Amino acid sequence: MNFILFCLYTSLYFHCNKGTVYLPKNVSVSAIIAFGDSLLDVGNNNYIKTMTKSNFLPYGKDFVGGKPTGRFSNGKTLADFFAKALGVKEYVPAYLNPFITDKDLLTGVSFASGGTGYDPLTATLSSVIPVKIQLEMFKQYIWRVKRKVGEEAMKNIINNSVFFVSSSSNDFLVTYYSVPIRRLQYDIPAYSNKLVKWAISLVQDLHKLGARKIVVFSAPPLGCIPIERTLAGGSERKCVDEYNKAARFFNKKLKENLQFLESTLPQSKIAFSDFYNPLISIIENPRQYGFEVANQGCCGTGKFEMSYLCNELSTTCQNDSTFFFWDSLHPTEKGCDIYSKIILPDLVKSLF
Ligand SMILES: *[C@@H]1O[C@H](CO)[C@@H](O)[C@H](O)[C@H]1NC(C)=O
Ligand SMILES: *[C@@H]1O[C@H](CO)[C@@H](O)[C@H](O)[C@H]1NC(C)=O
Ligand SMILES: *[C@@H]1O[C@H](CO)[C@@H](O)[C@H](O)[C@H]1NC(C)=O
Repeated sequence: MNFILFCLYTSLYFHCNKGTVYLPKNVSVSAIIAFGDSLLDVGNNNYIKTMTKSNFLPYGKDFVGGKPTGRFSNGKTLADFFAKALGVKEYVPAYLNPFITDKDLLTGVSFASGGTGYDPLTATLSSVIPVKIQLEMFKQYIWRVKRKVGEEAMKNIINNSVFFVSSSSNDFLVTYYSVPIRRLQYDIPAYSNKLVKWAISLVQDLHKLGARKIVVFSAPPLGCIPIERTLAGGSERKCVDEYNKAARFFNKKLKENLQFLESTLPQSKIAFSDFYNPLISIIENPRQYGFEVANQGCCGTGKFEMSYLCNELSTTCQNDSTFFFWDSLHPTEKGCDIYSKIILPDLVKSLF
């Protein structure tokens, strides 16, 4: 698809200035609030004791000032692209950052923590912030906002915010496939159902706290993530069918359950953000999306490095805009940009 043409066409209906703001003209979004894992973590893990970190170069080398921030990318991540596209702000700050200002707070923060999952065991395995605790942090956030602007204004902000939830990749890759505990307890359909239950319960809790527009990401094509190709894709580093199949099963259940949930929760708009099919398409036809490489990361050999293994001693690819993956797990800034452009028109349609 040609994004520029798409934007010209849709600018009849949407603000589409410089191809970034996709909002219908009669609505505005107060804040962007994010939960979940490294896809939306913008630096919370900097403030906790864990091995899952990215606040050192070459992470952040293309961020403002060439500064690592704890984003798992060479620059901006999805949270930032969504915030901009919904007309809120350029960068979403980490809630745990002690220097966030009132304005930062009122326009939204991220509670996400790289390495976490819906399954509480996932956060334990990586010593990161469980989703349940992120929800507690959100309650504290509500209290802080209320103290600043009063109850009425606080309710308005929450009511007009867009919430993003990204989880499940680490549940499958770190918890299910890497350690035996869950594999002994559940097969993939049973574990997927369990994850879906946790996801649904999180959305219900958010709704109780006032959230009305909630976007939940599907699992990506887990078997095509560079490190999984290396670990389980054989000498040719093929996509691992079994992992992709698990992702598809989970995604189907998640989508059905979210649709049903939306029909039961008053005034709610709940969007399933397909993170599987757009990625498969990019991975199979990278050139069609402006990429040269989509089967390995830009950092180091691109085959296994991430977090502390992708560090100042790692060489990086010549031009990270031609890579879909930045490290062996996470998309580049360009990758996030392209994915957000693919998905935003549908998301906006289902949210407003
Ligand atoms: C915005 O406009 C659309 C189309 O005219 C309408 O369906 C929708 O209800 C409006 N939304 C708000 C919040 O006014
Ligand atoms: C909250 O938002 C919904 C639409 O999402 C709207 O129908 C409702 O009137 C809003 N309530 C308040 C108190 O702003
Ligand atoms: C990097 O690649 C992008 C996308 O193909 C291209 O637009 C840009 O000019 C390249 N930058 C350099 C320094 O070669």
